[in-house]
Parts: sequence; structure tokens; C-alpha cells
Amino acid sequence: MGSEQEQTAIIHLSYCLRRAWDRRISQDYRFWMSDGFENDNAMFETGKRDFEYLTEGLALAEFKGKCALEIGCGVGRLLQQSKNIFESVIAVDISNNAINKAHQLLSDTSNVYFIKNDGYQLEDVSDNSVDFVYSFATLSHISSRMFAGYLMEICRVIKENGICRLQLYLGTESETVEADSLAIRCYDQGCLKRAVRLAGLKVTDVQRFELAETIVTPQGEQIPSIVTLRRQREPLADREEIAAHLRFHPEIQVAAAWDDAPLECQLMMSLGSRLIQEGNLHSALQTYEKIINFYGQYARDAERIIFALRKSLQK
Ligand SMILES: C[S@@+](CC[C@H](N)C(=O)[O-])C[C@H]1O[C@@H](n2cnc3c(N)ncnc32)[C@H](O)[C@@H]1O
Repeated sequence: MGSEQEQTAIIHLSYCLRRAWDRRISQDYRFWMSDGFENDNAMFETGKRDFEYLTEGLALAEFKGKCALEIGCGVGRLLQQSKNIFESVIAVDISNNAINKAHQLLSDTSNVYFIKNDGYQLEDVSDNSVDFVYSFATLSHISSRMFAGYLMEICRVIKENGICRLQLYLGTESETVEADSLAIRCYDQGCLKRAVRLAGLKVTDVQRFELAETIVTPQGEQIPSIVTLRRQREPLADREEIAAHLRFHPEIQVAAAWDDAPLECQLMMSLGSRLIQEGNLHSALQTYEKIINFYGQYARDAERIIFALRKSLQK
């Protein structure tokens, strides 16, 4: 693929990704972040837990006066913690809606600087300026081409003695459509290490951590991991070459019409039925109403369920 085509492909990926995440966040910003979606406090509690996974073993007091960068900050679930530890935090996200919501939820904060980016570059972040780069629940959902872009950018922006901690899934690689932003990409550890090296970084540690639910695919278990990276030198390859090393088999390219909405709708329908089983009919009704608003064309049963729920709630 020539470089103009590569550029067009990645711009198209950015467009699809932003559209999908803007929709998810306006639809139900807590559900699409993580667990703990009952209310904002529960969400920030899970953010605290996940920030602890990311920083395990680090002497946080040493970060006083330092600068952190979060890739894929979402609505600020982890920023609520990191803002208290660092002098400043640069929070990057591809979604306008995520950044607006994070702004609103962290309105009492003055040391977090938000940047809406293109999904693979850190253009507004200066070279050699960041002490701690981190990312959670983001980089396994993006194409390896974009991930490779970030690896090169991390190498550029991180200070020589800086630390980078990324939450990824390791294990056996599975087939993935490049534009799919819900799939969990699982990286082979050897491939990851080689790609990271080409990006000018080094994997210095890999720690497994436990999620509430183990994810098993036909290929095997996807191991939730915190990977530590350190800067070594300038990158030795370009983005496409690094992306090619991240995987044994390239991601599947599909025509322009890729859309995650049908799967999003299915996931919301599962949430709705779980809420009904738990007897939480008010929340279930709200969920199905949102389904109609956002995914009406894929959710034929939702109207019928809303009707039944309204009837039960009137009794
Ligand atoms: C599952 S949410 C997780 C957010 C946050 N890290 C957390 O754990 O609460 C993923 C976030 O990453 C953002 N995102 C997805 N792909 C991205 C990319 N390529 N570059 C920057 N942000 C991205 C989405 O807009 C969304 O806000």
C-alpha cells in the first residue's frame, strides 16, 4: 500500500472511531467506559482501582511536580486520581463528547489539559516533556496501525527517564477487522516486544491483573496486562513497519461502510435484559428508550419491551 493510500486509510479510521465514540458517549457515557456504571461515584471508584493497577509498585510521591499524559482519557474516570498526584495531566481523546463530558465532570480541576486528537498522534504535546504516560481500556480497541503511531509518539514525548504504563491484552492474536472499535485485540508478547523496540522503546515489565470477568475467545484466554515501557533511542522504523510487526497476520480491511452500531445495540439489549432480571425496571426502561433513540433500526424488540415495562411500572 503506497503512503498516500496509507494516509487515507488512517484518516478514514479516525473518522469512524470518532463517530462511534461520540455516539457511545452521548448514549450512555458510563456504560461505555468500564464497570461501575450505576452512578458517577461508582465509576470514579473503578477509575481509582484501575489507576492503582497502572501504578502498582511505583512511588507516587516521586511524581509530585511532574507531568502525566493519558491516552484515551474518556470522561475522566482515571483523571480523578491522576490529577491529585501529578502537577499537570495532559488528557487526550479522539471523541469531542468524551472531552466535553470529562470537562464537565472535572469542572473543579485546573491542572488537567484536554486535547482532542486524531487517534494516533500527540501533535500538541512537546518532545521530551512527559514523565508518565498511561492508557487504560483504549489501546486494545484501536487498529494496530494507530497503536503503532502512538508507540512512536510516546517515544517522542516521554522524557529520558520517564515511565509508560499501558493496559493491553496479551495472549494469542485473533482475527480483527481494522475499523472495529469494540473488538478486544490481543497481542502476542513477542510481537509486541519487537514492535516496541522498533518504536525506540523497550518493554521492561509485564504484569497480569484480574478483571471481574475472564475473557476467553476461540483462540484462548486474553490476559489483561499492564505493560511497562521505557525510552531507549529514536524509532528504527516507520509507523507501517511497526504496525506490521505488532501482529503475525494483518488486520482485515473492509469497505468504507463498517459500523459498530449493530453490536453496540446488542450489548445495550443485554444490559436491558440484565436490569429486568435484577428487578431494576426504571433503569431498564431508560436503557431501552436509549436503544430506540440511538439504534432504533437494529432493535425491533425494544418497542415491545418498553410497552411491557411501562405497563408494569404503572401497576
Ligand atoms: C473504553 S473508553 C476508556 C476511557 C478511559 N481510559 C477509562 O478507562 O475510563 C475508551 C476511550 O478511548 C477513546 N479512544 C478510542 N480510540 C482512541 C484513539 N485512537 N485515540 C484517542 N482516544 C481514543 C474513546 O473516545 C474513549 O473515550
